[in-house]
Amino acid sequence: MIGTPVTLGDRLDGLVVGETCMVLQPVVGKPRFDISIIRPEMRAEHCQLRGQGYPAPRLRAIRKGLRTLHTLELMAQTIYKFQITKERSDLNCQLITAMCNEMGHYQDDQIKLYEYGFRPSILRFAYWLVGALVGFGSRLLGPKAILRTGIWVESKAVHHYAELLETIEWDDQTRRVIEKDQADEDGHIARWTRLLQAGTPVSAQA
Ligand SMILES: [Fe+2]
Ligand SMILES: [Fe+2]
Repeated sequence: MIGTPVTLGDRLDGLVVGETCMVLQPVVGKPRFDISIIRPEMRAEHCQLRGQGYPAPRLRAIRKGLRTLHTLELMAQTIYKFQITKERSDLNCQLITAMCNEMGHYQDDQIKLYEYGFRPSILRFAYWLVGALVGFGSRLLGPKAILRTGIWVESKAVHHYAELLETIEWDDQTRRVIEKDQADEDGHIARWTRLLQAGTPVSAQA
């Protein structure tokens, strides 16, 4: 399986082992994705206008769902951004990886918003602010607080993803993107939990 080109949303039959920072485990009952891919490829032909002919309630639900995810992903990437220090540590490498992943999720939601003819929430700056405060605050408290904050935030995110996947009638491509993003959040929880259990993750890399 390793070495096989995998694009955004591809489901995998077996366990996929990624490289250093990411990896692993399918979550029982959920589709499996290669979460070692933290910035999936998007080609020009993947962009398309969506939602034509959908009934108004379905469009409203999709708009609300995408705006919710878009603002939450802004908060997530901002938390990680403000947790990163200048230290050349493994934890910082992992935080940068997670930040990159969240930036991709943010792009996913923004692209889908515009494909549907919607606009992002004008209140999203508030989520940036909360993210900055939470990120910086946990950074001041140290690595364990950073990890605990990550687990808490990601658990909320997974819950949101599950609820929105269950209650909204997405088009197939958007659903697969959201499922992949949810799998990434599960991966983040697993990683932060593993690091927390392993002790203070601040070993120098170089
Ligand atoms: Fe995310
Ligand atoms: Fe995440």
